[in-house]
Amino acid sequence: MKLAISGKGGAGKSTLAAALVLLMARRGRKVLAVDADPDANLAAALGIPASEQEKLIPISRQAALIEERTGAEVRQYGQIFKLNPDVSDIADSFAYHHKGAALLILGAVDRGGGGCACPENVLMRALVTDLVLYKDDALVMDMEAGVEHLGRATASGVDRMIIVIEPGQRAVDSTRRILRLAHDIGLQDIRLVANKVTGPEDVRFIRDAFPQNKFIGVIPYREEFRRADRVGRSVLDGLPDDLLHCFENILTNLEAPL
Ligand SMILES: Nc1ncnc2c1ncn2[C@@H]1O[C@H](COP(=O)(O)OP(=O)(O)OP(=O)(O)O)[C@@H](O)[C@H]1O
Ligand SMILES: [Mg+2]
Repeated sequence: MKLAISGKGGAGKSTLAAALVLLMARRGRKVLAVDADPDANLAAALGIPASEQEKLIPISRQAALIEERTGAEVRQYGQIFKLNPDVSDIADSFAYHHKGAALLILGAVDRGGGGCACPENVLMRALVTDLVLYKDDALVMDMEAGVEHLGRATASGVDRMIIVIEPGQRAVDSTRRILRLAHDIGLQDIRLVANKVTGPEDVRFIRDAFPQNKFIGVIPYREEFRRADRVGRSVLDGLPDDLLHCFENILTNLEAPL
């Protein structure tokens, strides 16, 4: 499964991504978590200690790696460089291992003119393309908020997407834009998860906005999530059983055909 998790800013993308990654790892699946948000915080949601997080350098900032693989200097234009750098070992060499899962932080890539041909972009594109071909492991990509990334290689190789929606008109509008763009890039398997739900009215509001789309879960608004965030605990650590069941259901529904 090559899953991208998308949604409006703050909807709960990283929370859900971390929970699914940790659950898959608990179930003994080989899973690669990819933080594709320039404002990366999946490591925190996975409960990686702050002192360790400091050591995690995003791929886009690994100048030596980029230069070695592309044969050109980063942030320099007008150079000749390899358009198909070898990236097949990067996930294995650069991933951070935590609680049975592997984490790769992509980092920010300069979008200059929508996909400029600079070495760092070429390497990142090759890497993402390679990751989605990655054996038969599960790949969970925590995306940046909004929709801009959807036109890029980042999402074009994934085979399913979850859009996280919170009960609110702006989140509904965001979701509509994401659905349109996902459709444009030919992504067919899109499922919705309602998050931060405080009652049946919230569920109805979200469901009524998307009667045609498949909902695979509802996560209540709960203080436990914010507390875990504040104290730097993983999303799943110390989670009450009812919330754990929410994520288990989502994973089961996700693995079932659309
Ligand atoms: N169900 C929930 N109940 C209460 N708080 C929640 C819930 N889900 C997420 N949160 C909190 O909301 C905040 C944003 O969550 P998260 O970082 O997962 O969102 P995001 O979509 O990844 O945000 P960003 O767009 O900034 O990457 C965090 O403080 C998180 O703990
Ligand atoms: Mg996030």
